[in-house]
Formats: sequence, structure tokens, C-alpha cells
Amino acid sequence: MKALDLLSYIDDIETYKHYGKVKRVVGLMIESLGPESSIGDVCWIHVNGKRQKRKIQAEVVGFKEENVILMPYSDIQEISPGSLVEATSKPLEVKVGTALIGKVIDSLGNPMDGSILPKGLKSIPTDQNPPNPLKRPPISEEIEVGVRAIDSLLTVGKGQRIGIFAGSGVGKSTLLGMIARNTKADINVIALIGERGREVREFIERDLGPEGLSKSIVIAATSDQPALMRIKGAFTATAIAEYFRDKGLNVMFMMDSVTRVAMAQREVGLAVGEPPATKGYTPSVFAILPRLLERTGTNEKGTITGFYTVLVDGDDMNEPIADTVRGILDGHFVLDRSLANKGQFPAINVLKSISRLMNHLTTDLHKNAAEKVREYLSTYLNSEDLINIGAYKRGASKEIDEAVERYPEIISFLKQKTDEKITMEESIKAIIKLAD
Ligand SMILES: Nc1ncnc2c1ncn2[C@@H]1O[C@H](COP(=O)(O)OP(=O)(O)O)[C@@H](O)[C@H]1O
Ligand SMILES: [Mg+2]
Repeated sequence: MKALDLLSYIDDIETYKHYGKVKRVVGLMIESLGPESSIGDVCWIHVNGKRQKRKIQAEVVGFKEENVILMPYSDIQEISPGSLVEATSKPLEVKVGTALIGKVIDSLGNPMDGSILPKGLKSIPTDQNPPNPLKRPPISEEIEVGVRAIDSLLTVGKGQRIGIFAGSGVGKSTLLGMIARNTKADINVIALIGERGREVREFIERDLGPEGLSKSIVIAATSDQPALMRIKGAFTATAIAEYFRDKGLNVMFMMDSVTRVAMAQREVGLAVGEPPATKGYTPSVFAILPRLLERTGTNEKGTITGFYTVLVDGDDMNEPIADTVRGILDGHFVLDRSLANKGQFPAINVLKSISRLMNHLTTDLHKNAAEKVREYLSTYLNSEDLINIGAYKRGASKEIDEAVERYPEIISFLKQKTDEKITMEESIKAIIKLAD
């Protein structure tokens, strides 16, 4: 470096750090006088721990008169009045690279098994703008997910985003695990947000298994973590998927569940004094969802196909989060408890589900076959009650007769064992045969 360059370099270095002081703590909120910072910036709060001094990471979430309002990424038991608050003047960044594949990390990007991160990773901000909508290539190619009901009747495109709407215990995790293991995508990025610790383990060990994990990066923020960490988990996972999209890959992204992200944002919103709006959800919830969900999809370099699960109580698809998410995404799959109760897994209610891009992606032969099978199903279900009580007489309607005859075959076509691998080609052949 030349002497002059060095001088100007020294000029640019900030030789003092920005510090503030904790004034008060109310619940999860920390109010401090200074440091100079903006919303979303990460700060370090220096505290005297039981044995040693340590630093707690927190984020600027608001301002009150001249005070800065911070929320911590971890517990805050040791903070006291006067604790030093150090500004980093940067929003949250995580380290990412191919070395993360096969790992389970937390919202801040640290491996959950306590191991240290490999070298050579790149730091990226977790919050990014969605790709410019005008520069987004249209979705033109199908992606194999390896689930027969989806590849044949609800075909998904590379870069398409789908909501999976279901109650608890209907088979969301199992279905996501199947997709992760069977899909032809280059890599899976899976965000587990707001689940209990036990559920996260079950998903990784049972649903994903070693085979699925070996081509996945899992980001987990369990229900016991602070609300801000659960929100960050969703952002970190999305940023990691973006990193691999920018490398030109076709990424399979899953978020289970987006409802829990919304609930975490509601918690933060209420704490900083936002008014509750629809069903107690604050306005920021409805601002954050499109910002987050629009980040996946296609860009000029690669694609992120997204599956976002949404928790619905009973069959209430009009609950505010379900309604908002459905409006943003390009399709919704409904998992039905009544099908699960009958042992029909995956419990996808084909007639209530839609992939909005399917018709652009498939051949006429495939499309027509899918329509035919839907028709058989709907004809059967419309007359199911009559058939079951024996009120329907064979021969009364040719359509119903045909539907009744084909129904068992269709149901066994829709069923798929969790370890059953089916290529898209096989699924398409099978549905064409089924409709014939
Ligand atoms: N494809 C499947 N085949 C057989 N059983 C399934 C299948 N999918 C789900 N199940 C059953 O449903 C239960 C709950 O599934 P899970 O995926 O954990 O639901 P959720 O994530 O929606 O709470 C599983 O323990 C399993 O018994
Ligand atoms: Mg689950």
C-alpha cells in the first residue's frame, strides 16, 4: 500500500466505537441512551456474567424519544442499568457456503451441534430486497418433487412458491421430508420455525434422514427461543437459499411454518407498541410476509422453489395469515385431516388444491389426463353419500358408474409410502394410463 493510500485509509477507519448505556428493561425490551444506530442494526450489550464478562447480541427495533429500543437474540438475565451498548452499525449477517450442506444451524448461522463453522464461508446480510419483478424470468420448467400426487396433478415449476395448508399432525413434516429426499433440485434449504425441540429432532432423524440431510441445510429456531430469533430464522434461511440461487442452482426451499413466523412478528410488534389489527396480528406482520415470501422464486441466475406451510385450525382457510399467504403465492396444497384419518397419506386434498402454473408447464396429454382424473374424483365425491347409503343404483348415470369403478384405483394412485421413490416420468405415465 502506498503511503498516501495508507493515510486516507486511516482517515476512513472509525477510531472510536459508538457506545450507549442501558436505561431500563421492560419485558423483552431494552431501552438505552445511544448508540447512534438505525432500525435493524445489531448491537452488542456488554454484561457481567456469573463467571465472566460477555456480550449479548441485540437488534435495534425502534426508538422512543431519544432512546434506542433493542431486543436481544438471547436471554437477558444479566443486563443491568448502565450496561454498555456497542453499535456495529450493520444489520445481521450470517456465514454461508457449500460447507454448510449437511448441517443444522441456528438463526445466527451457528451449528446446533456445537461444532465450529468451517473456514472459507462468506458473510451475507440476512435481509435483502426481493429480486426486481421486471427482471424475473417467468417460470417455464417443471421440477420433479418425487411425490406422485404432486408431480401428476399439481405439477410445480422451478421457482414456483406454494403454500401447504394443514392442521397439526396431518402430515406436513412427513411430506416435506419426502420432497427433500426425492426431489431433483440441486440443494434443499429448510427452515424449521417455532417447532418444539423434539419435533425438530424427529424431522431431521425420521422425516429427512441421513439421505435427505446430506443434500440439505437446515435452519432451526425452536419455540422456546426469543421471538426475534424465530423471525431471524426465516430471514437467515431465505438468505442462504438466495446465496445458492445466485450460484446458478435450482434450490428447494421449505419453511415450516410461516404461521409461526407471523406469530413471532406479532409478539415483537405488540412489544414495541404496535396496535393489534386483524386477529391480534399487528400491521408489521402483513408488511413482513410479502417482503419475505417475495424473495424466493426466480432471478436471472437460478431458481428457488418454495414450500411454505401454513397452520389452519379446522378448515378455516380465511384466517388472516392463511388468506395473506395464499394471496402472495402461486398455489396452495391443502392437507385434509379427514383423509389422514382414513389413512390416505400424503393427505393432499387434490380437489381443494391448485398449482397455478401447472397448465403452463405440462404437455396437453398430461394436462388432459389430470383434468379427467379430477373429474372422476369430483363426480365420485359428489355422489359418495348416496353411494354409501346404497341409494345410488348402478346404471342410473354413466359418469357416476365410471367414477365409482375408477375410484379405488385413483385412491391407490394418490397414496404413497414415505420411503417410496417415484420419478416424475413414472407419475405422468401412470396418470395418463389412469385417465385412459
Ligand atoms: N405418507 C405417510 N404415510 C404414513 N403415515 C403418515 C404419512 N404422513 C404422515 N403420516 C402419519 O401422520 C403423523 C403426523 O405426521 P407429521 O408429518 O408429523 O404431521 P405434521 O407435521 O403436520 O404435524 C405421522 O407420525 C405418521 O404417523
Ligand atoms: Mg410437523
